[in-house]
Amino acid sequence: MKKIRFGILMVLMGLVISFLAAGCSGSSEPAAVKGGITENELDPAVWGEIYPIEYQSYLKNNQQSKTEFGGSEKESKFITEPEIRELFKGYGFSKDYNEDRGHTYAMEDLLSSKRVGDQTPGSCLTCKSPAVPKLMKNLGAAYYTTPLKDLAKDVKHAIACSDCHDPASMDLRVTRPAFAEAMQKQGIDVKKASKQDMRTYVCAQCHVEYYFEKNTSVVTYPWDKGLEPDQIEKYYDSFTFSDWQHPDSQAPMRKVQHPEFETWSTGVHGSAGVSCADCHMPYMREDGKKYSSHWWTSPLKTIEVSCQTCHDQDAEWLKERVLNTQERTQETQQRTSKVIVRAHQAIKTALAKQEADQSKIKEAQEMVSKAQWYWDWVAAENSRGFHNPVQALDSLGQAADYGYRAIELAEGSY
Ligand code: HEC
Ligand code: HEC
Ligand code: HEC
Ligand code: HEC
Repeated sequence: MKKIRFGILMVLMGLVISFLAAGCSGSSEPAAVKGGITENELDPAVWGEIYPIEYQSYLKNNQQSKTEFGGSEKESKFITEPEIRELFKGYGFSKDYNEDRGHTYAMEDLLSSKRVGDQTPGSCLTCKSPAVPKLMKNLGAAYYTTPLKDLAKDVKHAIACSDCHDPASMDLRVTRPAFAEAMQKQGIDVKKASKQDMRTYVCAQCHVEYYFEKNTSVVTYPWDKGLEPDQIEKYYDSFTFSDWQHPDSQAPMRKVQHPEFETWSTGVHGSAGVSCADCHMPYMREDGKKYSSHWWTSPLKTIEVSCQTCHDQDAEWLKERVLNTQERTQETQQRTSKVIVRAHQAIKTALAKQEADQSKIKEAQEMVSKAQWYWDWVAAENSRGFHNPVQALDSLGQAADYGYRAIELAEGSY
């Protein structure tokens, strides 16, 4: 009897303690104001009145600082790898191509890009502003085809709170339909995703390879055959998709866009279930309160809280491992881009010879397209190999191989 009463007492005490704990953790979010954020509130400063710690760390996205291979400066890629300009000849990326920087610059960098013109479709806004979901709802299919310059007129904010959070519950949510649809096709309902998966999915709404569907300009993810570079290549092959024609080799070309999610998913960390937020949004402390960093930047600035939560090794060793991968990836990438530039030139020379075997030239053009696809898979990804070192070097190996085959075919055609 005594034992049971003691048991009940313990349960009651447990309830009191958990009630108090809930009260404490919720104390910085007064219920009255919390309900105050509406679905239409896009301004992060207003959200910041209720969630000041997260907002303060969000403002750090305005900082610009570099790491060895990453960082948040608007640096031109043409400086580190002049071949890039040759590889994208005839396409916007040969006019202007910068390193990525903080989320808060997304609108400014989009609108000041030399790649953007009067014809640029609204689709380009999709991963830049929290205004997008409402524009999509109001305009329907016309959202994608309305010129960007018209859509952008009323857009005030770059990537912010409502892109990832439901304002009423603060739960993480997916706000970009292309991602939800592509996952649905893989049999995954993002509405039922676990908390841990959501810590990746909110990022995967934007940090992925995508294309604009012909005629409709609808943003679409090419994942029907899988997430590996060769599977995505096969998907595009199935309807002979290309972005532009290279003016020297006349080869049909494809541009890869930042495939961070795809690359991560088959790497060591992705397959072990380590989320984007685990490394890029580590838990921090301020005045004794634990919060998630909202400064999306290089985890090399915060190794202690980004990596050492799981790894026993010291910070210097961990950084050394990252740099070792990045140095090798960068060197191999730069060597490979030289091979592909030579391939475009070799085909150009062959095209000028009347006696050249046209079928060999056509094959060489196919090879140079493939070479550049595998090269770009690594070049366009933002971790310089770290998210998946094995895939990065494997891809570059394929790129070099296709590049040399293109040169051989072109030179052997006359
Ligand atoms: C790119 C996506 C993204 C954006 C944008 C974003 N958050 Fe978060 N936020 C997260 C993730 C991921 C977590 C961790 C949630 C978890 O683990 O359940 C989080 C957690 C939070 C939490 C819970 C407490 C904590 O710190 O872990 C609050 C409050 C919060 N965010 C406020 C904000 C505010 C305010 C803004 C805008 C200034 C914002 N968030 C913008 C992704 C985002
Ligand atoms: C709504 C689209 C969107 C979402 C959601 C999003 N990003 Fe981004 N992210 C971008 C864009 C666009 C840029 C480049 C901005 C620029 O260069 O102006 C970027 C840049 C970055 C950078 C580079 C910053 C630097 O300092 O160089 C990191 C790191 C990053 N994002 C991580 C994340 C993580 C982690 C998540 C999920 C928690 C996430 N992003 C969610 C669109 C998004
Ligand atoms: C195991 C930790 C880890 C995970 C998980 C991880 N990243 Fe990274 N990420 C890194 C490191 C390390 C770098 C390289 C930073 C540098 O070069 O300074 C990086 C670089 C980046 C960059 C470029 C940052 C810059 O400075 O320009 C982006 C964008 C990015 N990651 C997005 C993502 C997204 C999206 C995911 C999830 C799909 C993800 N990362 C998962 C560790 C991680
Ligand atoms: C949530 C846990 C977790 C976090 C956070 C994490 N890792 Fe890992 N890491 C793992 C696991 C699991 C493996 C697989 C091998 C193992 O069990 O050690 C791994 C493997 C590695 C490897 C060896 C494999 C390879 O691809 O080269 C390196 C290097 C590494 N991590 C570096 C980092 C760095 C740097 C960070 C921070 C930016 C980090 N990790 C953050 C869990 C984590």
